[in-house]
Amino acid sequence: MPPKTLLTGIKPTGTIHIGNYVGAIRPMVDLATDTDTDATFAFIADLHALNAMRDAEQVKKYTRQVAAAWIAGGLDGENIALFRQSDIWQIPYLSTLLMNMTAKGHMNRAHAYKAMVDENMAAGKDPDDGVNMGLYTYPILMAADILAYDATHVPVGEDQRQHVEITRDIVTTTNHLYGDDTLTLPEPVVLKGESVPGLDGRKMSKSYGNIIPLFAPMADIKKACMSVVTDSRTREESKEPESVTIFNIYKHVAKVEEVAEMRAGFADGGLGYGDAKKQLFSAMERLLAPMRNRFDDLMSNPDELDSILVAGAKAARGKAEKTLTRLKSKMLGHP
Ligand code: TRP
Repeated sequence: MPPKTLLTGIKPTGTIHIGNYVGAIRPMVDLATDTDTDATFAFIADLHALNAMRDAEQVKKYTRQVAAAWIAGGLDGENIALFRQSDIWQIPYLSTLLMNMTAKGHMNRAHAYKAMVDENMAAGKDPDDGVNMGLYTYPILMAADILAYDATHVPVGEDQRQHVEITRDIVTTTNHLYGDDTLTLPEPVVLKGESVPGLDGRKMSKSYGNIIPLFAPMADIKKACMSVVTDSRTREESKEPESVTIFNIYKHVAKVEEVAEMRAGFADGGLGYGDAKKQLFSAMERLLAPMRNRFDDLMSNPDELDSILVAGAKAARGKAEKTLTRLKSKMLGHP
């Protein structure tokens, strides 16, 4: 069996919320600590964030939050390198080489760019209004991330699958020209099913302003839990549990037997929304308790956090350097 190398990145573009934890951090930690995983590279995609973020202080703040959330969530250990993307100068270099292996048509079809073009057209604007080249070439930078560390498995949300497919296409083109030992073909590992709704029942997203933050003061988390949107059905009425947003959040954070109990409470009638919200808050409290101290420690001790990121970057650079040397030799004739 070839070594199993995991790689994933998170963009530091907003406050980490319970949806990020359940959908990305928790499953990533499970995979990284799996016995058949040989190495894990996890990074904060701060270069990717620049296509939309203009305030360096904010980039820095969210980068720290993501790093601290990952460590507090358990992504910490021997074979795990956690680092800032921008600390690996080999990545933009690789990206430049890979540009030449990438069909422009792929960029035209990449979903983030295409969504912006469609929106502009619908509004009667120039199709490329507000589009910068960072957004347009986003998938190439992402391919560089994946290929630099010879990643074999890339855990991502469904929305990122297309980017991994583009990476695979880049590998096929490159290896066809320069030999099969040039780049490692990665598999997407799509993290399914764990999508937590926000306070209003839509997808939890900072752009909708409907998040439950992961590490806010407990009073704020309580306030968020108490403000989950409900309807006017009475306590006694029997309700389809999946029609209640409180339940749809609760099922991702509570224990199996608690979930069964709340399910029955709504289906049979008798469980009021107020009580259900209190149960949601106590499940959140319990879930967060083991992570909060570590998170708060790291946030109030930037030196410790930095030293973890610096050590991670050192390990990552060593690996990326090898890949870059290999590709330069093949493409340019010198290492
Ligand atoms: N594009 C990913 C996102 O928006 C972040 C990311 C950057 C990434 N590079 C990556 C994910 C490489 C997986 C692999 O969330």
